[in-house]
Amino acid sequence: MKLHLKVWRQKDKNDKGRMVSYEANNVNEHMSFLEMLDVVNDGLIKKGEDPIAFDHDCREGICGSCSMVINGVPHGPEKGTTTCQLHMRKFKDGDTVVIEPWRAKAFPVTKDLVVDRSAFDRIIQAGGYVNVNTGGAPDGNALPIPKVDADLAMDAATCIGCGACVAACKNASAMLFVSAKVSHLALLPQGVVEKKERVRKMVNAMDKEGFGNCTNQYECEAACPKEISVNFITRLNKEYISS
Ligand code: SF4
Ligand code: FES
Repeated sequence: MKLHLKVWRQKDKNDKGRMVSYEANNVNEHMSFLEMLDVVNDGLIKKGEDPIAFDHDCREGICGSCSMVINGVPHGPEKGTTTCQLHMRKFKDGDTVVIEPWRAKAFPVTKDLVVDRSAFDRIIQAGGYVNVNTGGAPDGNALPIPKVDADLAMDAATCIGCGACVAACKNASAMLFVSAKVSHLALLPQGVVEKKERVRKMVNAMDKEGFGNCTNQYECEAACPKEISVNFITRLNKEYISS
């Protein structure tokens, strides 16, 4: 199939940036979206042009690196799917595909589709460590965690820190990300000891980084490739108020 691409190109963080059109020919429907971009980049390199910069690592939907807005939707048109797991069969021959970076004050563009997401790292860092002595590995069946809490903690832990929730939110709020990280640890006995201090520090770090607030639009949940529930934001607010 053949696609018309409109891609955001920006030399560095000081460049104003602009949309540039490219033709993607011979696109195989079994290619992933990133493989399609690899082929476009191959053509650009052969012509002596600068390839399109984009973040990627695992290409298995687990690292959270791949981050681009495709036709206005973070990670593209397939629900619960990262860009690296999105396949070209979701598009039709002749489609125009607009590709942009995450847009948020706290995620400045460094080049083309690559944004600086170190704000997330600083929020995690603010949360500190779990410093209780957890001892040796206990028998699995002896863990004093109710199944419902273990399952919820596991759901929260699936957040891959991609930032699509921020990119989807009109306020560029990081509440879904922070709520997943806070809930994951607050639900487990090892994380309970410092949970009050942790939630305060993480929320303060989130505010300091310039993320907006949540106004209950639920765009974050809709865009999240791991389908993290907005119920975790309720839990975050509860943890914060009770701290
Ligand atoms: S909550 Fe979802 S969208 Fe936000 S960082 Fe985590 S995985 Fe990505
Ligand atoms: S490249 Fe790792 S989640 Fe997409």
